Amino acid sequence: MDLQGKVAVVTGSGRGLGLAYAQALAAAGAAVVVNDVDRATVDAAVATITAAGGRATGAVAAVGDSEAAQLLVDTAVTEFGSLDVLVTNAGILRDRVLWKMTDEDFDDVVRVHLRGTFTCARAAAIRMREQGTGGRLVLISSPAGQRGNFGQTNYAAAKAGIVSMARTWAMELSRADITVNAVVPVAATEMTRTIPAFAPVIEEAERTGNPLPDWLRKEEGLGTVEDVAALITFLASDDSKDVTGQAIGIGGDRLALWAHPREKAVALADGGWSADAIAAQWQGGVGAEPETYGIPAPKAPEA
Ligand SMILES: NC(=O)c1ccc[n+]([C@@H]2O[C@H](COP(=O)([O-])OP(=O)(O)OC[C@H]3O[C@@H](n4cnc5c(N)ncnc54)[C@H](O)[C@@H]3O)[C@@H](O)[C@H]2O)c1
Repeated sequence: MDLQGKVAVVTGSGRGLGLAYAQALAAAGAAVVVNDVDRATVDAAVATITAAGGRATGAVAAVGDSEAAQLLVDTAVTEFGSLDVLVTNAGILRDRVLWKMTDEDFDDVVRVHLRGTFTCARAAAIRMREQGTGGRLVLISSPAGQRGNFGQTNYAAAKAGIVSMARTWAMELSRADITVNAVVPVAATEMTRTIPAFAPVIEEAERTGNPLPDWLRKEEGLGTVEDVAALITFLASDDSKDVTGQAIGIGGDRLALWAHPREKAVALADGGWSADAIAAQWQGGVGAEPETYGIPAPKAPEA
């Protein structure tokens, strides 16, 4: 896939998935602004891309506030002349159950993920609309944002909000030919290493040098960061010009389209519902098949 002539910003691209996205976009011909919170990490990431023959520059900033967002857009324009693709990938975890989560845990996660996505996308949209040549906003969500997840009040809320923003901005930016999609990735990284269910399998794969087991790649969609990067390249390309407002899952061997929430069961009562009428109707009616909630624990197949 050819991204020659395109300029991309990838937030949080010093390591993990973001680095893989930046490397993949550069390998396809895009010029890339690498962003992370410290200079050494950014410089090392830029060096891997340029050593492989790609074009990249660095911008050190903590995504969250408007100044950081503007710095990223300005760096793209100053260094490479335009901005065509934004991938909002920067992220942190501060996992704790609700009753132990502090205001700071909540605010830190919301600031980086939700506010960071908002401020960066707004700055990018302003620039892309001025340019008048369309663009691509690729927002990074998570299975936790689609389903909820134990210990992730802050993260699940932020990642759900990101999908909602993608659907909203797809409407607002369609006339400017700017597509907006949310990616729901899963990959073995420093972040997933902190998840108790995944930690042992990731460690074993690293220790033995073997790939992650087939069931994990297929059923859980857990694979390498490179597995996810292919979707980012597609969404950055001209080939995805008609794809917008979607939440797309990828990881391991798995590519998936997440459903848009919709009414699953409906009942009508003339003049509206009383609490008693809802109680009488619920079982066997609208509530006959309740929805699941939370990410199911990974289950290895029986030997
Ligand atoms: N790994 C997965 O399976 C998975 C699943 C769902 C979603 N995600 C999302 O994908 C993204 C990347 O995850 P990862 O697993 O590569 O994590 P990671 O922790 O390996 O990498 C995240 C990077 O973001 C940087 N970062 C943190 N705060 C920043 C800020 N304010 N400004 C700029 N950079 C900042 C970090 O320094 C780090 O380099 C995150 O948004 C994460 O929530 C990951």
